[in-house]
Amino acid sequence: MPDDKFKPKEDLQAGLHEQIPLYGWVVAGIVVLIIAALVYYLRGHSYEHVAQDKFVGPAKCKECHPKQYESWAKTRMANSFSVLRPGEKVAEKKLAGLDPAMDYTHSEACIPCHTTGYGLVGGFVSIETTPNMAGVTCESCHGPGGSYVNTVMGLDKPEFKTADARKARLVYPPTEEVCRVCHNSKSPFVGVDYKFDFVERVKLGTHEHFKLKYEHGN
Ligand code: HEC
Ligand code: HEC
Ligand code: HEC
Ligand code: HEC
Repeated sequence: MPDDKFKPKEDLQAGLHEQIPLYGWVVAGIVVLIIAALVYYLRGHSYEHVAQDKFVGPAKCKECHPKQYESWAKTRMANSFSVLRPGEKVAEKKLAGLDPAMDYTHSEACIPCHTTGYGLVGGFVSIETTPNMAGVTCESCHGPGGSYVNTVMGLDKPEFKTADARKARLVYPPTEEVCRVCHNSKSPFVGVDYKFDFVERVKLGTHEHFKLKYEHGN
């Protein structure tokens, strides 16, 4: 009879059914442990990675570059957040079709170009929580310091190579492309025919340049 033929198999299956919970617990336990270890490992790594690309703010750069800092602090870019306040640059705002009585300090339409690292790790969030990242600071032009400061660049390694620092995201020397992230016709203050003369602008506006002590290569 076909039924008899299948009987041993049914018994076998029944036996297996009883054993699965035993194996199941052990296997499931191991799988859970592996997944947990993997998640922990990957999260730890991505966290470290993000932390390295963090914006550190101009006060950090000042510690070792006081002369560039003092000079930069006097530029219009260093103070470019304040022009978003009501009552500032009244005539210019009227000409650009903006309301001079309006407070633009929290406006998404303005903040990306008038602050540093907006939306990025360690970058500008709001004037209340991250006042040090208001305005166009060092890292807008030189890249986020978290990756190169005290790793490649530091007082204990003053002869580092620019090429190595660049691998750690130092932007040096900043090129025209860096400026054009903000100096483009999306600014309400410039027309579509906006011309940005890089050479002239570098002379006018970043900071005074001081001769470095060491050769860093190209
Ligand atoms: C702990 C000290 C220290 C800090 C903090 C620091 N730097 Fe430096 N940096 C140095 C030293 C040392 C040099 C090489 C100086 C020399 O050759 O005279 C240097 C050189 C540079 C150079 C020239 C690079 C080259 O390859 O020629 C730039 C640009 C620079 N730093 C930008 C920054 C910025 C931006 C910050 C802040 C995010 C910063 N540094 C923070 C120590 C520091
Ligand atoms: C795409 C980047 C960008 C955006 C967005 C932007 N700006 Fe600007 N803003 C600039 C740049 C660059 C300049 C300097 C222009 C120049 O001199 O070449 C500037 C200059 C200004 C000035 C000075 C004008 C003068 O003639 O002195 C004011 C005020 C200003 N912006 C306010 C605002 C306000 C308010 C908003 C939002 C409604 C805004 N900006 C959005 C990039 C931007
Ligand atoms: C994060 C955005 C941003 C970047 C990057 C940027 N700028 Fe600016 N820049 C501005 C804003 C905003 C102003 C207007 C400041 C104000 O008038 O309050 C400005 C103003 C200036 C001024 C002053 C204009 C004047 O007539 O005095 C000069 C010069 C200048 N930038 C040069 C540069 C150069 C050169 C670079 C690249 C190496 C650069 N900028 C990169 C946003 C930026
Ligand atoms: C608007 C862009 C811009 C900003 C903001 C800026 N820099 Fe620079 N930085 C430059 C340019 C352009 C050079 C010159 C590169 C070259 O020689 O071609 C430079 C050069 C340097 C150098 C090399 C030595 C020198 O004096 O030329 C150091 C160090 C430096 N910057 C540090 C800083 C620090 C610190 C800050 C903030 C306090 C800062 N920079 C802000 C654009 C900028």
